[in-house]
Order: sequence, then structure tokens, then C-alpha cells
Amino acid sequence: MVPPHPARAASAPGSVVSSTPPPGIGFWIPLASPTLPPRAPTRGRRAPIPMPSYEAFSRVYDLPLERLYRSARRAAAEALELREGHRVLDVPCGTGQSFDALVERVGSGGDVVGLDLSPGMLREARARVASRGWRHVEPREADALTVTDEELPGASFDRLHVFLGMSVFPEPAATFARLWRALRPGGRCVVVDVHAARPGVQGRLVNFVARADVRRRSWEALEAVACGFERRALSSSWVHGGELFLASGDKPA
Ligand SMILES: C[S@@+](CC[C@H](N)C(=O)[O-])C[C@H]1O[C@@H](n2cnc3c(N)ncnc32)[C@H](O)[C@@H]1O
Repeated sequence: MVPPHPARAASAPGSVVSSTPPPGIGFWIPLASPTLPPRAPTRGRRAPIPMPSYEAFSRVYDLPLERLYRSARRAAAEALELREGHRVLDVPCGTGQSFDALVERVGSGGDVVGLDLSPGMLREARARVASRGWRHVEPREADALTVTDEELPGASFDRLHVFLGMSVFPEPAATFARLWRALRPGGRCVVVDVHAARPGVQGRLVNFVARADVRRRSWEALEAVACGFERRALSSSWVHGGELFLASGDKPA
């Protein structure tokens, strides 16, 4: 089992619905600085190296994105079929935008553990946890690919939530495999991400700013290992840079 937290002893398949771009989305533009350093290295076991762009915009990340993804976060939490007392692994947790939807479903008897590489994003996540007074939500600094068995033991979570991670992880298949190991047999996983086979201008901007690759078929790692796999489109607009999808499936018992 994972050590307890120290503070404790949708839309129809295939449909795409347009929505008005939220205020503040203009933050994407000034942040698309051509001087951003390259992506974090992708090979071999390594010490966690946060992606510089997330350090740069962690303080403003919530302003454009909290509202943009709110309904998708609710859909993801719903699709996870959460119960009171469940232990949920949320990776990457970023600034903790998904915590509300997860916490209200697992109750005070459950746990939410978030992993992220970025100290800046985690600072915001911890501020969110403190402001809500949650004692059962723990954002931890870790590379989801290289996190150790001591930090993340096998089969220690009831639910796995991967929201806007698979398009960003430098090694998505291996990273997903590592996280999947932490899910117990019979546990459930939900992946939400953006996909565009041929990204337009906004998709390319999202790729650049978020160090993402929205061309990835980010559901395939789950599809390959889950039983009862399903994928459906969520309501999305041009601002997302592609089609938002929700994929779900269970780990064979
Ligand atoms: C687009 S943000 C998504 C954050 C959050 N899931 C959300 O929906 O707001 C991508 C996050 O992935 C994190 N990240 C990228 N690679 C990672 C890795 N190997 N391990 C943990 N976090 C990682 C970044 O630091 C960043 O916070």
C-alpha cells in the first residue's frame, strides 16, 4: 500500500459541440515565446526535470484553462465511477484543477494523490489544497515515468485519472505502463486528452506552448490493456486545438 498522507493518522459519441472561447485565453499567445528551451530529455532513467514552459506559466495556468476544461473534468470524474473511500491517482495533477471533482466523490474517507514534475504547478496545487482545507489530497513531485516502487507501489490505487498527460509525457506508452501498474486489478482508468490528426494553427500553438503532441492517439495505451474500453468525444471548440476525447476502461481482475 501507498503510505498514508502525512496529514492523516458529456456528449454523444463522435459529436463535437462548439463553445465560446473563455476570457483570458489570450494568455496562450504571449506565452508562445520562441525563446522557450527545448523539451525535457526523453531517454533513460533520470532525475525529474520539469518542463520549463510549465514553470513559466504555472502562475497563470488556471486563468485560461480552469473554465475551459471544467465540464470535461466533471465528465472524467463521473466516468471513473468513484465511490466513497476510493484512492485516486491523478497524473499529471498540474495545479490540481481536477481535485474538486475527484474529492467530492471519494469523500473524506478517500484519498487523492497527484503526481507532477513541475514545482511551479505543484506550488499552485498545494495552495489549492490548503485553501480548501483538504487533508486527504496530496500533490507530490515525481516523474511519472521513473517514480520508484517505494513512492508508488503496485496495485495501490482504486482509480487512475490521466487528464492532459498522454499528449505531454515525453514517453507516453512507458509512462502509462508505469501508472497502470499502480492501479489495482479491477480498478478503473480514465484518460482525457486532445487529439488532432492534422493540427491546425491552434493545435500547433497548443503543441508549442504545452510541450504537447496532439497528433498522438493518446487513448491507445489504455485500449491495449483495459477491458470494457470505451472512447467518446467530449464537447470541444477550436480553442482546445483538436477534439477532446474521454477514454475509459478497467484493469482485468
Ligand atoms: C497540460 S498540463 C496538465 C495538468 C493537469 N492534468 C490539468 O489537466 O490541468 C501537463 C502537466 O504534465 C506535467 N508532466 C509532464 N511530464 C511529466 C512526467 N513525466 N511526470 C509527471 N508530470 C509530468 C507537467 O509538469 C504539466 O504540469
